[in-house]
Formats: sequence, C-alpha cells, structure tokens
Amino acid sequence: MNKTTTYQPAPQRYEQMPYAYCGKSGLQLPRISLGLWHNFGSVDDFGVATSMVKYAFDHGITHFDLANNYGPEPGSAETNFGRILKENFAGYRDELIVSSKAGHEMWPGPYGDGSSRKNLMASVNQSLRRTGLEYFDIFYSHRYDGVTPVEETVGALVDIVRQGKALYVGISKYPPHLARLAYQLLAEAGVPCLISQYRYSLFTREVEADILPLTAEFGSGFIAFSPLAQGLLTDKYLQGIPEHSRAARPTGFLQASQVTPDKVEAARRLNNIALRRGQTLAEMALAWVLKDDRVTSVIVGTSSVAQLADNLKALEHPTFTPEELREIDAVL
Ligand SMILES: NC(=O)c1ccc[n+]([C@@H]2O[C@H](COP(=O)([O-])OP(=O)(O)OC[C@H]3O[C@@H](n4cnc5c(N)ncnc54)[C@H](OP(=O)(O)O)[C@@H]3O)[C@@H](O)[C@H]2O)c1
Repeated sequence: MNKTTTYQPAPQRYEQMPYAYCGKSGLQLPRISLGLWHNFGSVDDFGVATSMVKYAFDHGITHFDLANNYGPEPGSAETNFGRILKENFAGYRDELIVSSKAGHEMWPGPYGDGSSRKNLMASVNQSLRRTGLEYFDIFYSHRYDGVTPVEETVGALVDIVRQGKALYVGISKYPPHLARLAYQLLAEAGVPCLISQYRYSLFTREVEADILPLTAEFGSGFIAFSPLAQGLLTDKYLQGIPEHSRAARPTGFLQASQVTPDKVEAARRLNNIALRRGQTLAEMALAWVLKDDRVTSVIVGTSSVAQLADNLKALEHPTFTPEELREIDAVL
C-alpha cells in the first residue's frame, strides 16, 4: 500500500485505550472496537465514515469489525473500508485488526447464504477482493444455519487459516451446544477459536447463563455486539424517534416498533442512574458490559464522530458500586 493522503495518526494513540488478551490467545484487542454494520455503506456519507475510522484509530481502536453483507448495499461497507485504508492507512496494516464474516444471505442461489464450505470459501475470497487486503486478522462463521454440520464449517475455517487468508477464526451466535462442539473441533485441528461474538447488553443478557462460562472454559475471547441495543440504550429515544436515527431510517435494522414504551421507560430510569454517575446512558451501558473480565471487547456502531467520542468516555468510569448494580438490576 502506498500513502496517498496526508493523514498522520495521532502519536499518542495508544495512551488512553486499555487492551485485553483475547481469551487464552496472545492477541490483544482494544476494550472498545468499531463495527461497520450500519453507517459505512454506499447509502451513507463516505466523509463521515472516513472521519470515524480515523478518530477511532487516533484513540487506540485498532479493531474494525466487518461482514460480507454489511452495507447496504451488501458488500459496500467492505468496499468503503478498503478505500479508507488505501487512502489513509498505507503503512499501518500491522497496527490493525480487521475482521470479517460469512453466513448470512449475500448473493443469489443456494451458495450465497449459510455455513457451507462453498459459501465460506467463496465469501472470504470476495471479501479480500472488496477490502483489498491480503488477509483478515479474524474470520468468522457468522451463524449456524440450522443444517450444515459444524464439522463442515469448522473444516472450512481451518483451511482459511491454513491458506493464509485469515490469522484467527471465530464464531458468532452459535447455540451453546454447537459452540462447544466448534470449540472442541477447532482445538483438535490446532486452530483454536480465538473469539466468540454474541449480542450482549443491559437489555439482552442470555449469554450470562451459558456462552460466557463456555468461552471461559475453552479459552475463547468474547466480544459483545449491539452493546447499546442499536441505540435504545442511549438517551436518543427518550423524547420520541429523532429524524435521522436508526429507527427512523428505511435502511436501519432497528424498527420503530422496537422502540416500545417499556424499553423507553427502562432507558429513562437507567439514564437517571447514569447521570448520577456523571455519565451518559451510552457510556454507562458500555461500562456495564465491560465490567465482566470474560468480555474482551465491545463493538460499538456509531453514526458520527461525536457518538464515538462519547462512547470512548465509558472507559473513564468503568467500575460500579454494589448499590448501583442492584439499582440497575431492579430496572431490568
Ligand atoms: N455477529 C452478528 O451477527 C452481529 C450483529 C449485529 C452487529 N454486529 C456487529 O456489532 C457492531 C455494533 O452493532 P450495533 O451497531 O447494533 O451497535 P450499538 O452500539 O448497539 O448501536 C449503534 C447505534 O447506536 C447509536 N449510538 C451509538 N453511540 C451513541 C451515542 N453515544 N449516543 C447516542 N446514540 C448512539 C447510533 O444510532 P443512530 O444511527 O440512530 O445514530 C448507532 O448507529 C456492528 O457494527 C457489527 O460490527 C454483529
């Protein structure tokens, strides 16, 4: 990669961000990672997308989370991220952890979806082409598709590493008994599961019962997606649905119908607790997910640099008193 812009990353970029080892691996991830599911597609503002990636890197966010289908249109987040890298980050590839995934619907026909070897092998090649990268740091099976034997999917992940197309592998959203099988098979193949990616937030706590203990048992890292419940765990919906919010956008995955009175009321009460802690609700919601040592990192999605700046402040007040935790549990 050749340098094509004058962007110079902030010299002090590693000073504020804490990093955590990913499970029992030697790889460290920033406690806050940036996800490109929304806001980086061809329908979005490329200038804002570029600013967010630069701001992230300037503040120690070394990990960027993609998937083949992120956009819209599907694939365009990878294309845009590749362009941002090429135009600004030439020479910095070795300071970055870039992940991608395959498993959700991406192209027509029986091979463009699911967890088959065919889909994963074709997908990783497509994603490398779109991003212009030589390899991904982490490549995930995005989901268990309900049919494909875990042995087949794991075999493809192992071969992706052996072919040098990814350094590490992960799984996302696998039901616990199949996650266990995947961890066992990957370990036997000598390609341990680096990381497990699941939804985890104040509003969605299922992983506490099964996946979090399982990741600890097998030495996999854990990374939480949608830690702000797509924006519901911020103060933005307390007075209705703002015009440019995810719930208002036709391309957003958060439906207006999901902004229910009970969720808004819970957010209002949580917001009061956050204000007493001297935080925004977004900051408190992220700190709450990160308080568990088994959580390696949270992946935030942001639509502006200001949101990213706010979310990074979560790291300034990471602890909770027992009373605060009791109060939060009472709201939930
Ligand atoms: N493995 C999987 O299946 C899977 C599934 C989903 C997501 N993910 C990953 O996880 C990442 C994060 O998911 P997510 O985007 O749902 O995360 P999220 O952090 O829960 O929600 C992001 C949205 O919350 C709002 N927001 C963020 N910070 C804010 C702040 N400080 N103040 C006010 N509003 C704020 C923004 O909404 P507005 O747009 O309304 O401003 C933003 O688009 C994705 O990008 C992707 O990488 C993975």
